[in-house]
Amino acid sequence: MLNIKNLHAKIEDGAEILKGINLEIKPGEVHAIMGPNGAGKSTLSSVIAGKEDYEVTDGEIFFEGKNIIEDAPEERAHKGIFLSFQYPVEIPGVSVTNFIKAALNENRKANGLDDMSAKEMLSEIREKSELLGIKKDFLSRSLNEGFSGGEKKRNEIFQMLMLNPKLAILDETDSGLDIDALRIVSEGVKHFKNQGNAVLLITHYQRLLNYIQPDFVHVLADGKIIKTGDKSLALELEEKGYDWLLN
Ligand SMILES: Nc1ncnc2c1ncn2[C@@H]1O[C@H](COP(=O)(O)OP(=O)(O)OP(=O)(O)O)[C@@H](O)[C@H]1O
Ligand SMILES: [Mg+2]
Repeated sequence: MLNIKNLHAKIEDGAEILKGINLEIKPGEVHAIMGPNGAGKSTLSSVIAGKEDYEVTDGEIFFEGKNIIEDAPEERAHKGIFLSFQYPVEIPGVSVTNFIKAALNENRKANGLDDMSAKEMLSEIREKSELLGIKKDFLSRSLNEGFSGGEKKRNEIFQMLMLNPKLAILDETDSGLDIDALRIVSEGVKHFKNQGNAVLLITHYQRLLNYIQPDFVHVLADGKIIKTGDKSLALELEEKGYDWLLN
């Protein structure tokens, strides 16, 4: 599904941040990326999603067999790549519901589909919001305006479930969640997951991986993947930290 080869990227006029990333994600897989602060994890997710703050200086990103390096962020989203935000933006005056309706229909349009019927939209919204314990009045609030940390994260998972992407990249969706919210968000991800899609989870904590079992755990440090293992690697990192890998 996603195949990243020797990816190098830097900020415009800045230092290199990604220094040769290789990563292959197949349908049905869950990959976790862990690693020290400032290693380049969020940069990697931004570069996969096509954010324009970064310049790819070498390497390739294939999504479903096609090189997407030249594609704009919207095109990548239309192809089925979803990125949650570590720091979500506020959009005053646009409600949670209207935002997701517009995003969903835009996606459908780009894929040659008609708008979702109002009835279907309503039932989708109802089903997904109930699953995540999102209350009705929350859906009519302005996007991210005054949302608590946990509400933002829950809304990201709501967006993911509604958009039903092929590849969901979740950047620190677990940070700042209380125990119940963590469980709800994890249930949402589990509900989303099937044999045809994939999840790339960026996290600092092993505990999310107790709920969502990863097939692979990668350690990203200083712009490179320095170790790959299975879920036991996350436990080992929790116990030993990163130092033993860095030297
Ligand atoms: N737009 C930018 N402008 C300047 N520096 C940037 C920019 N984006 C990333 N960097 C720098 O690149 C490095 C990697 O940042 P990145 O956000 O990818 O790290 P991270 O692994 O996600 O860290 P954290 O675990 O703290 O979220 C950092 O040193 C950061 O300051
Ligand atoms: Mg980050």
